Amino acid sequence: MEDSIIRKVENAFQNQGRWNDSCGVSNLAVIQDTPEKFVIDPEKLSIEKLDLIKAMSDIEKKQILEFGSGRGEFSVALAKLGGIVTGIDIGENLIELARRVATTNNVDCEFVVGSIDKLQFEDNLFDFVVGNGILHHLPKKAVLNSLNEAYRVLKPGGMALFTEPIENSRVFDFVQNLFPVGRRPSILQRAKWIAFLEAADDRALSNAELTDAKGCFREIEFKYYGLLIRLTRLFPGSKFRQLLQTIDLFLTHKYSPIKKLSRVILVTYRK
Ligand SMILES: C[S@@+](CC[C@H](N)C(=O)[O-])C[C@H]1O[C@@H](n2cnc3c(N)ncnc32)[C@H](O)[C@@H]1O
Repeated sequence: MEDSIIRKVENAFQNQGRWNDSCGVSNLAVIQDTPEKFVIDPEKLSIEKLDLIKAMSDIEKKQILEFGSGRGEFSVALAKLGGIVTGIDIGENLIELARRVATTNNVDCEFVVGSIDKLQFEDNLFDFVVGNGILHHLPKKAVLNSLNEAYRVLKPGGMALFTEPIENSRVFDFVQNLFPVGRRPSILQRAKWIAFLEAADDRALSNAELTDAKGCFREIEFKYYGLLIRLTRLFPGSKFRQLLQTIDLFLTHKYSPIKKLSRVILVTYRK
């Protein structure tokens, strides 16, 4: 039943207006009054974003395209590290905000409005295509199209790298969904659960879907983040956060048998 609801609402995934209307509009006012809140320190990025940057090895003077650049913070961080960065997002207010974030940080970045499944760029233009939390906002078909487009605009030898939420186990997913967290009701509260699914404009990806979307890329690689850290959603402000992060380093390690139960993946495609 849930599968059919997800298919039904997939079109809603195309409408990502909430990011533009909430995050874009409200932050345009915030940056006007308190630009200092938008000063980016690349060293303070999350561990998966830092790993994404490490995986690119050398970004100095490299052409980088960020998919779903949102407020522009990651693009600006990459520009501060020497990349020549273009960000693309469907939200016009977000693009305007990202331009102001770049100005606040004294870096040159280009930000353009557009959809990542139909890029306006020529072939073989970029050394890297990157994205954080973007593919999971798209229906399956658009994920495939977006990766084909990434392949097309990358130079030979170029890389596409994404950090995305994942769910690889239906059983594990079911167990998690038994517990209400934030706006998400328990899967046992059927009416509320179905309304929650119908309103969704994102979903978790899986290794299988990311592998299926490989297309012409010659190599794909995964790295995992965050397994027990989910418990901090049940107990916000948990004093155990640091401890859980340390345990997670072991549980998500390359040789861990349960690493695929992690909630975030860094996927790397090589052209
Ligand atoms: C969860 S936000 C992530 C933003 C940013 N990457 C970050 O890490 O803060 C998802 C972003 O994807 C953008 N988006 C959604 N669908 C898109 C599409 N088809 N093409 C380009 N951007 C899209 C949204 O406008 C939003 O800015």
